[in-house]
Parts: sequence; C-alpha cells; structure tokens
Amino acid sequence: MNQLLPLIDRLVRAHSLSEEEYETLITERNEQAASLLRQEAVRLRKAVYGNAVFTRGLIELSNYCRNDCLYCGIRRSNAHADRYRLTPEEILACCREGYELGFRTFVLQGGEDAWFNDERLCGLLRQIKEQYPDCAITLSLGERSRESYQRLFDAGADRYLLRHETADKAHYEKLHPPELSFDNRMECLRNLREIGYQVGCGFMVGSPFQTPAALAKDLKFIETFRPEMCGIGPFIPQKDTPFGQHAGGSVELTCYLLSILRIIQPNLLLPATTALGTLDPQGREKGILSGANVVMPNLSPVSVRKKYQLYDNKICTGEESAQCRGCLAQRMDAIGYELVIDRGDPKSN
Ligand code: 5AD
Ligand code: FES
Repeated sequence: MNQLLPLIDRLVRAHSLSEEEYETLITERNEQAASLLRQEAVRLRKAVYGNAVFTRGLIELSNYCRNDCLYCGIRRSNAHADRYRLTPEEILACCREGYELGFRTFVLQGGEDAWFNDERLCGLLRQIKEQYPDCAITLSLGERSRESYQRLFDAGADRYLLRHETADKAHYEKLHPPELSFDNRMECLRNLREIGYQVGCGFMVGSPFQTPAALAKDLKFIETFRPEMCGIGPFIPQKDTPFGQHAGGSVELTCYLLSILRIIQPNLLLPATTALGTLDPQGREKGILSGANVVMPNLSPVSVRKKYQLYDNKICTGEESAQCRGCLAQRMDAIGYELVIDRGDPKSN
C-alpha cells in the first residue's frame, strides 16, 4: 500500500494539507505518487485553462545589483560579472519586437540597480503602456519601498514578481547576507498585494541547506498567501558565487512540487522556468506536463544575454527572440499544448 494515496486524495478534495503532511508528501515521494499528482494537476489545469500555455516576454534590463545573495551570479561581489544596463530605447525596441511576435505581457526584470529609480521607471512604464495599451507589464526588480511600488503601479505596472526564495526564516538567513531580511521580503509581498498588483512569489528547489521541512513551509505559504503567480525552478550553482560548489536542485523534485502547487491552487500561474530547461533539454516540457502553464522566453538583446547569468549554462543565450518564441511554440505543440497570444491574466477557479 502506498501511504501517500490517502494524503493525495485529501489534497485533491480540500486543496490543503498540514505542514507536516506536506513534508511527508516530499520525504516519502515515489513514482506512483508522482504520477497520480501529475494526473490530478493536469486535470485541474485543463479545467481552468484548457490546453493554453501563456507566454511572457522577459526583458533583462540590468545586471547591476546592490545585493549580495549568496546563490546569485549577479551579486555585487562577483567581480567576474560583466555589467550592463539597457537604455530605455533598447527596452522599447525589445517590446516592439516582442509585440510583433505575439507577446502581450512584458516582464521587466533586473538586479536592484539604483539607476532605475522611480522617475526613470515611471517614464518607461508610461511609454510602454501608451504604445501597447493591450499589454500587461510585470516588474521583477526586487525590494523597493511601499511608496515606490505605489508610484510604479500608478504609472502602469500591473504585476510584480518577487520570489520569497524560502518561507523558512532560518533558511533565508543562510542564503542571504545579514543586511537582507526575511521579514522585509514578506513585508514587500504584502505591500504589493495591498497596492493592487497581481503578485508572484516563488522559491528555488534544492537550494543549499534546504530541507523537506522548509519546502513544506513554502507550500503552506503559497496555500495561505494565494499569489496570482509562483515561480519555482531548480537551484543551479554559479561558479563565481559562494555556493558554486554546492549540488544543484533536481528536475524531478521541481516537477513534483509543480503538481502539488497546481492542486493547491488550480488557477495559479506557474511557469516552466528557464532553469528547468537548463538542467534538462526536455525540462520545460516536463514542467508543463506536471502542471505548469506559463513559459517566459527571453526578449533581451542577444548582445547582453550571456551577461545575465544568475546560474551557469543558462539556455537561450545565443538565440534571437523570434527563435525562442518559435522554438517554444513548437515544443508546446509537440506535447499537445498551444502557446497563445493573450495577456494571460489569472482565471477564476
Ligand atoms: N539558480 C537558480 N535560480 C537562481 N536565482 C538566482 N540565482 C539562482 C541560481 N543560482 C533565481 C532566484 C531569483 C530569480 C530571479 O532567479 O530565485 O529570485
Ligand atoms: Fe530559446 Fe528554445 S526557447 S531556443
């Protein structure tokens, strides 16, 4: 008898388990449980989203960062990082190309770079919104003050991605330098929500010192916070960081957690991340087949792509935006899904 089957049954019916039960689901996982979770996740996603896969054009604005997260390749003390910053004109050119390719969401992501102050960002947001009023704009620019989040929202930003990285405070402190605080991270997420953003959080799978208990906290956090989006991907070591020699996360556990997250919250926007595709050539397909429903191809200029190296061996750094879009459309088609031209807002369950 597989002791996990009653737990899975209850998860499917109640969309909730206790933290201890989530931990058991992780520590005792086996192929039969994974297969059942996958099947239920796909069924629930189909009921909400059909076979549509949403796409977001990722524009990596800058790899300057004032932070020093121990896992991240663009941390400030990585002297090997070749720093760049796109100009507003270059960013607008990425949006133009992306729009023509069928993207209706642009994700502006970058390190915490002081050059992108509120004034510059608000100007940029207004221009993008004026030129592409039918598009959603997602920001992923780290921790800012509540006032700043409010100004950016007022200037047209619709969504904000800020991965919480881990819901376990002690674990958070092992991944970050002392000046970064878990409480402030969580406060940022609450502020974003209160301002009215669609909010995305998320975590790495297999980050150094992560335990099944910490992952169970992540699942409980998602269950209670109920974000619109949740980005999860395997940790992949970057050689010039303090964690460069640590083991990376696994595709298997990432996909297992994607299935559980889909069941917890059937309408959750869940990307099959580039990190998943980096670890396994079929990683993004496996992610979709486990319950993910979003892909985020790169729209950054090819000239800077290799420089935005949060982790080693990142894929898609040599391809043009059109190639990535075409490649993903074909990959989704091959597994029976359709990449749609749509803002990809969350649907109600
Ligand atoms: N491996 C995988 N993901 C990483 N990120 C940062 N560094 C790494 C790494 N080495 C993730 C973090 C961050 C997001 C932008 O990328 O979760 O929030
Ligand atoms: Fe970039 Fe396939 S998605 S090359």
